Amino acid sequence: MPRLEVEGYGTFEVADGTRLVRAIEDNGVDILHRCGGYARCTTCRVAFTSGEPERMTRAEHDKLAEKELLGQARLSCQILCDQDMQLRPLMTLRDSGLPDPGSQPEAEITPPPEWISAP
Ligand code: FES
Repeated sequence: MPRLEVEGYGTFEVADGTRLVRAIEDNGVDILHRCGGYARCTTCRVAFTSGEPERMTRAEHDKLAEKELLGQARLSCQILCDQDMQLRPLMTLRDSGLPDPGSQPEAEITPPPEWISAP
């Protein structure tokens, strides 16, 4: 099982293939996911220290490019936990002042992923 280290929160064992945003939240981290995991809002963004995936969904790529975040952040709703990862969540509920993190992302990546190499 991959080990997920979330800086400031702890290290967790995660079932292989778990959607990253859900793995983070299921382990008690109040990460935002305002669009419900559809690569539209970028509030699920994380910064990797190690274990950054080499592939990326086209939806993630296009949204990060639009927001000028390519190379700075990744979208945890567009990533599966299939290796050890160390990262930092960049937007949390407690820091946001928002009433809730957003609707629950589905277990599978949405929209259906088209995989490309991360730039
Ligand atoms: S981009 Fe909105 S939850 Fe990931």
